[in-house]
Amino acid sequence: MAILSLIVAVTKLLLIFPPFSSASDVITHDQPLPDGRTLVSKDGIFELGFFSPGGSTHRYVGIWYKSIPQKTVVWVANREKPVKDNSDRVGPETRLNRRLTAWRNWDDPSPGDFTCGVALGPIPELVMWKGSEEFQRSGPWNGVSIGGKTTPLFQLQFVVNEDEVVYTSNLQDKSVITRVVLNQTVYFRQRYIWDEQTKSWILYSSIPKDNCDSYNPCGPNGNCIASESPRCQCLTGFKPKSPQKYDALDWTQGCVRSEPWRCRVREKDGFRKFNGLKMPDTRTSWVNASMRLSECKAKCWENCSCKAYANLYITAGGSGCILWFDDLIDLRVATVPSQDLFIRMAYSDTVLEDAEKHKKKVVVGTTVTFSLVLMMLLAFFSVHGRIESKEVHFLNQMIFP
Ligand SMILES: *[C@@H]1O[C@H](CO)[C@@H](O)[C@H](O)[C@H]1NC(C)=O
Ligand SMILES: *[C@@H]1O[C@H](CO)[C@@H](O)[C@H](O)[C@H]1NC(C)=O
Ligand SMILES: *[C@@H]1O[C@H](CO)[C@@H](O)[C@H](O)[C@H]1NC(C)=O
Repeated sequence: MAILSLIVAVTKLLLIFPPFSSASDVITHDQPLPDGRTLVSKDGIFELGFFSPGGSTHRYVGIWYKSIPQKTVVWVANREKPVKDNSDRVGPETRLNRRLTAWRNWDDPSPGDFTCGVALGPIPELVMWKGSEEFQRSGPWNGVSIGGKTTPLFQLQFVVNEDEVVYTSNLQDKSVITRVVLNQTVYFRQRYIWDEQTKSWILYSSIPKDNCDSYNPCGPNGNCIASESPRCQCLTGFKPKSPQKYDALDWTQGCVRSEPWRCRVREKDGFRKFNGLKMPDTRTSWVNASMRLSECKAKCWENCSCKAYANLYITAGGSGCILWFDDLIDLRVATVPSQDLFIRMAYSDTVLEDAEKHKKKVVVGTTVTFSLVLMMLLAFFSVHGRIESKEVHFLNQMIFP
């Protein structure tokens, strides 16, 4: 019974993957899959069957690469409900797991406390969590990449609209065999690539990258410079909130403006341009996808709580607008080319004249609230570009039947 209901659940899933759906590679009520037999996808890339991880005797249903000798499970159906004996009931797999979740350990695929997914703010970001604590943040989607990171391996895409956020990474070269692992042993998100010559998995990339990559390492308005000691320094125009604590390498209180600032007073209020910083946390930001940078500046200037602005997208020479209203959180020197960030402080620039020019054009907007539904599949497991995009569609169907 237990196995049957599991098989039914798996069958439902398989119907959504065309490579599995020919007569010879499906399971049905009449033709269940007994432990010991496997299904192979039509293109010969994936194999599905029962397995026991590491030293465990529990049985799980999983998918692994058929084509490589080292059996590497990339997806598990019944992570929380292994089959122990015939009396065990495996329920159909009804809730969606919308995050990548690490295995507890390499003998036990049940969910650990290390997860990765899309953070639902005004701009999508990829975030890793350790329990409920934010652990690492990618930086916002800038129209081309997340946080400026690009890789020749993938074409990345975020689709953001009022109903959903869909993140896809499409493998450019379909002959590449690759997977992402949330590795709870070391708390890294690791991408591996299969190397045919050495017949082994080679580590391709690993996040966090350095000790500035953890979430908010230097407190509000503090900048993290991995190559320097101490690595936390206040941004130009800011000073430690508590100099004693900052000197003692306790950076949690961060930094405050060093010069007296007065809202919309010439010489006492302006925007200083910073380049090469990771964009601060955007969860409480306001965005407008069509504003120009000059309009964005004027919009920030009008509101005394606005702390900084930047273009939303790097495409078309920079477009759209992000405004930050709280302290600037989780700053670091970017590891990749970064866009300009304009931070408000006692600084003289041409802001008044600019603001006057654009005053008439500025429309007072209401906060854009996206009712975002998280749709993320990078897959723990994941995998072959082809299956990734299918899986996103699959989730899509589940949420929007
Ligand atoms: C987890 O990371 C460690 C250190 O990089 C590595 O030795 C280990 O093989 C990784 N585990 C998996 C399952 O990839
Ligand atoms: C300034 O922006 C904040 C955050 O969006 C908003 O709550 C506040 O009403 C704005 N103030 C004015 C005067 O527009
Ligand atoms: C975004 O900016 C454009 C151009 O300034 C404006 O027409 C539009 O109303 C703005 N949208 C919102 C929601 O503020």
